[in-house]
Amino acid sequence: MKRKVTKAIFPVAGLGTRFLPATKSIPKEIMTLVDRPLIQYAIDEARAAGIKEFLFVTSRGKSALEDYFDDAPELETSLRKKGKTQMLEELKSTNMDSGAIAYVRQNRALGLGHAVWCARRLVGNESFAVILTDDVIAAEKPCLQQMMEAHEETGGNVVAAMEVPQDKVSSYGVLDIEEDMGDMVKVRGMVEKPAPGTEPSNLAVIGRYILTPNIMRNLNKKKEGAGGEIQLTDAIAEEITAGEPVYGFRFRGQRYDCGSKAGFLQATVAFGLAREELRGEFSTYLDDLHAQKNGAK
Ligand code: UTP
Repeated sequence: MKRKVTKAIFPVAGLGTRFLPATKSIPKEIMTLVDRPLIQYAIDEARAAGIKEFLFVTSRGKSALEDYFDDAPELETSLRKKGKTQMLEELKSTNMDSGAIAYVRQNRALGLGHAVWCARRLVGNESFAVILTDDVIAAEKPCLQQMMEAHEETGGNVVAAMEVPQDKVSSYGVLDIEEDMGDMVKVRGMVEKPAPGTEPSNLAVIGRYILTPNIMRNLNKKKEGAGGEIQLTDAIAEEITAGEPVYGFRFRGQRYDCGSKAGFLQATVAFGLAREELRGEFSTYLDDLHAQKNGAK
């Protein structure tokens, strides 16, 4: 029987320069969609997929993230006294069991691959998941859960993939497809940020991965890739060269790139409209805005 994947790495040590000046003092992962920080969406998705150990790769200035997952006894007592049971319930999803969450430091932002490598001792000799909190995915069945189910069939390495427009493809890791089976593709190669015109397909890797421990061994070589960073894509591509299976998984759901301002704003609108208590007022506002814009034309 295949071992279940129960560990997930959350690399949150990046500088978040696209959101400066906000990220000068707030970790990007604490920025909120409606009323929940990005990290909460990622944690909820991991929990739904059966993850039990949450491994954070952090850096200087990220202490707000660590505090977020602690119990808040004063706050809880105050809410209890006031009979705010609904809010208490909401708070529960932010609490982590003692020992379920671990933090390792990445001293310098040398790239996503390097951040993942920093968690190697915590991962040990097991397959593990990686979740990038920038990618928020609205889906009926959470994306990582879909991937776990696919992984139970295939084993090996599974990366989340989606078709992206031609003019955006060079911002992503891109799959070279050996065999297309619909939801799953068998991968022949992977290129991080291909120069325009050289991309092997428009099927891009997005921030969910299930990886074998071999990936850590590849990252150990600390090879610099695109942009002078140690790239996770390169370590996965090395597995293909070694004859190990790598699959792309076309997940069902809507992905928002919350690492970019436009993506973050789109997600804010979508998640706002998805909330029953906000929908009426918010959609009226958006309709009015739209009518005003059309009127001005
Ligand atoms: P990004 O490429 O989005 O970089 O990293 P960033 O620093 O977060 O943001 P910008 O581009 O400067 O605005 C993708 C993911 O990898 C993590 C980031 O925290 C983010 O979750 N990362 C990246 C690290 O943990 N360490 C690194 O050295 C680089």
